[in-house]
Amino acid sequence: MRMVDIIRKKREGCSLTDEELTFFVKGYTDGSIPDYQASALLMAICLNGMDDRETAFLTMEMAASGDSLDLSAIKGQKVDKHSTGGVGDKTTLIVAPIVAACGVPVAKMSGRGLGHTGGTIDKLESIPGYRVNLSESEFIRQVNRISIGLIGSSKNLAPADKRIYALRDATSTVESIPLIASSIMSKKLCSGCDCILLDVKVGSGAFMKTLPEAQKLAKTMVSIGKHAGKKTVALLTDMEAPLGLAVGNSLELWEAIELLKGGGDPTLTSLCLELSAWMLFLADEGPLDRCRETAQNVLDSGAALQKFRQLVEAQGGDLQSIDNLSLLPCALYRREIKAESDGYLVRMDAKRCGIASSILGAGRERKEDDIDYGAGIRLERKIGDQVQTGDVIAVLHSNTPEKFGDAEEVFRGGLRISQTPPPKRPIILGTVK
Ligand code: URA
Repeated sequence: MRMVDIIRKKREGCSLTDEELTFFVKGYTDGSIPDYQASALLMAICLNGMDDRETAFLTMEMAASGDSLDLSAIKGQKVDKHSTGGVGDKTTLIVAPIVAACGVPVAKMSGRGLGHTGGTIDKLESIPGYRVNLSESEFIRQVNRISIGLIGSSKNLAPADKRIYALRDATSTVESIPLIASSIMSKKLCSGCDCILLDVKVGSGAFMKTLPEAQKLAKTMVSIGKHAGKKTVALLTDMEAPLGLAVGNSLELWEAIELLKGGGDPTLTSLCLELSAWMLFLADEGPLDRCRETAQNVLDSGAALQKFRQLVEAQGGDLQSIDNLSLLPCALYRREIKAESDGYLVRMDAKRCGIASSILGAGRERKEDDIDYGAGIRLERKIGDQVQTGDVIAVLHSNTPEKFGDAEEVFRGGLRISQTPPPKRPIILGTVK
């Protein structure tokens, strides 16, 4: 078999056979296929697409290219949740303890933030002492004991994806639905779970800017999950504006804990309850409406907060900082962003907000960059709110005040105040089963 023939075939819009896809994934992972040939194939896929069989097979080959986590020693149905990435998305910190408090094990590996999107592991690391690197046996013992574990990935999961993703980034071939779907799902398929709930974000802060595109991505990922024998459902959720009221690691952790304590932004709360209900439903905990009630009950009773405290304690984090949030990392400097006219806030661009937060120190441009856990943006107003000139819309937080100028410019560029209120946009835009 020759790579040049595989490239030509895809360039001409034909489907690749299983053997050809195996040849590509194995060869690119072991270095026998050079970057220039892999780049040519990725561009041909980007332009001509792949059918469902090709996409599912490519994903399985990528998943099989490295280690996988064996969670079979954990009793019960293990449900994983994955967000395609957004701004202010702290849902895992809330949903995982809600689901675990209902008795369904949550054994989740999460990632770090990159570019304008955040990552759960960075948020958890804002808790002094919290260990994100547990050994596999320690992780499994913990989940069997307290039903919850949230760790970073130390294994060599889907190395084919790592190589292919880096090449896509450098060859402008990221924006391809089969390539995005196979990249995300290859990692999910090695995470040891039985069921997968996908939160596919739609809007300015997401990969998918429009609902039809997001539906297509969701359908592709659900089809891959089912093909691999995992119950899979996707919710399509809004990412036009940041989620909740905080963007940045320790600020988001603060918001998540406040929500678990009974406060919190109603939009964020309703999304977290819906995600939790779907996870319980996938784990066979009864009809969806009953799962919604169960999720609400453990949030209202404080059982979810207790579960989060148990998690933090088990992973070595400082419980005092959970009980007294002022002990969490906090930035030394603040700058208020005020409304420059009267009217309704009709736009607060999620991507610009994510970039501004990253400029303030909350994110990284390159994987090896350090982050400032206290940096970020606290939103005082949301889309649809009426504002008057001089009202504070947001507060920027940073330990490097010289970054305020650039961050304010980027953040302000995403704001719009208008004389007419915006149409209401629901947080949940659809479901793909
Ligand atoms: N996240 C991934 O892991 N891969 C993609 O291609 C896009 C988002």
